[in-house]
Amino acid sequence: MATDPAYRTADPDDFAAMIDPGRYARRSSDFEEIIARTEEHFWNPEDRDYVDFSAPWPGDDTIVPFWFVLENNTAVWDRLDEGQRIALTNESARWSVSNILHGEQGALSLSASLCDIFLDPGAQEYAANQVREEARHVHAFSRYVQARFAGRIFPVGDTVGRLLGELVATPVVYKKIVGMQMLVEGVAMGAFTTLYKIAQDPLLRRVCQLVMTDEAFHHKFGKIWAHATLPQLGEAEHNAVEDWARECFDTLLFNLVNPEQKRLIYPQFGLDWEWVRDAVLEARTDEHRRSLMQRSSNVFRTLIKTLLKAGVITERTRAHYAMWVDLDELSAEGDRMVGDEVAEEGIRSLKEINAGKRKVVRKVPAA
Ligand SMILES: [Fe+2]
Ligand SMILES: [Fe+2]
Repeated sequence: MATDPAYRTADPDDFAAMIDPGRYARRSSDFEEIIARTEEHFWNPEDRDYVDFSAPWPGDDTIVPFWFVLENNTAVWDRLDEGQRIALTNESARWSVSNILHGEQGALSLSASLCDIFLDPGAQEYAANQVREEARHVHAFSRYVQARFAGRIFPVGDTVGRLLGELVATPVVYKKIVGMQMLVEGVAMGAFTTLYKIAQDPLLRRVCQLVMTDEAFHHKFGKIWAHATLPQLGEAEHNAVEDWARECFDTLLFNLVNPEQKRLIYPQFGLDWEWVRDAVLEARTDEHRRSLMQRSSNVFRTLIKTLLKAGVITERTRAHYAMWVDLDELSAEGDRMVGDEVAEEGIRSLKEINAGKRKVVRKVPAA
């Protein structure tokens, strides 16, 4: 696929290409701003000035509200007593946080694979930086699972696990960038924004906000790639990108949260996952899905907006997305993304904390 020189790659085994003397000076300036700004959103999950994982759970509330849970307002709810509803809500939160943790590991492994093959030193430095930040997210969510769920991490949901595996393994750069930087990072921005707004656990809200200060830049990288690459593609190549985006979108739309993927949580409540699936299907129709997507913070609305603004969606697939949202309305909206404000507020708090820390470090006078 013809691409902007900034995204040329070498085979992962071709180290000779990496140490070719002529390579170092062929550096794109597209990523300098993102790279330069990494220091301003530095944070450390081990440092209580940023986040305190020893903060006790404040009360009898659930981690997320009842209404946020898929099974709420379905026949499942009628089968449970109050104590079981609380337990199922918290198990749902544990399942979501576990999958977020696996998603963070996927992002880490994927950006490491990009770092390994990018020939442009600027693109490579960007990718190396993303690896470092994803490692911080794995660290933070591991600490959160330890703090709230005694470290009990659910295995990854199988469909999303397969998608992450495919993105990490593929040598095809556009599949990696569209799948991870645009779609999975887009899901992350939407999901963290939602959790930041609705979670009843202040610790989870803080972790989401801090993670978003980094993710906002990762999502931006996907956009920079699309703007540099898509206009240069021939029809067949553009179609390949557009089809791949639709495939990833559908995988996420139908599998991100569904009873089959969550099936490990039900036996403890005496529920069979297939029965739960039917109860949820009965209550959650496509009409219901559509109405959820009208909310500006909806994860999938955010994804469609990302693809639309980046020029991935053309007349070929427009109808596929128009089933769910009003695309003209999305086109008319500005470029601000859901979550930008939360990330900016987080960055302001980090600048303050980091400025305070720098003052403490004094030069040791020469002897
Ligand atoms: Fe991340
Ligand atoms: Fe990320």
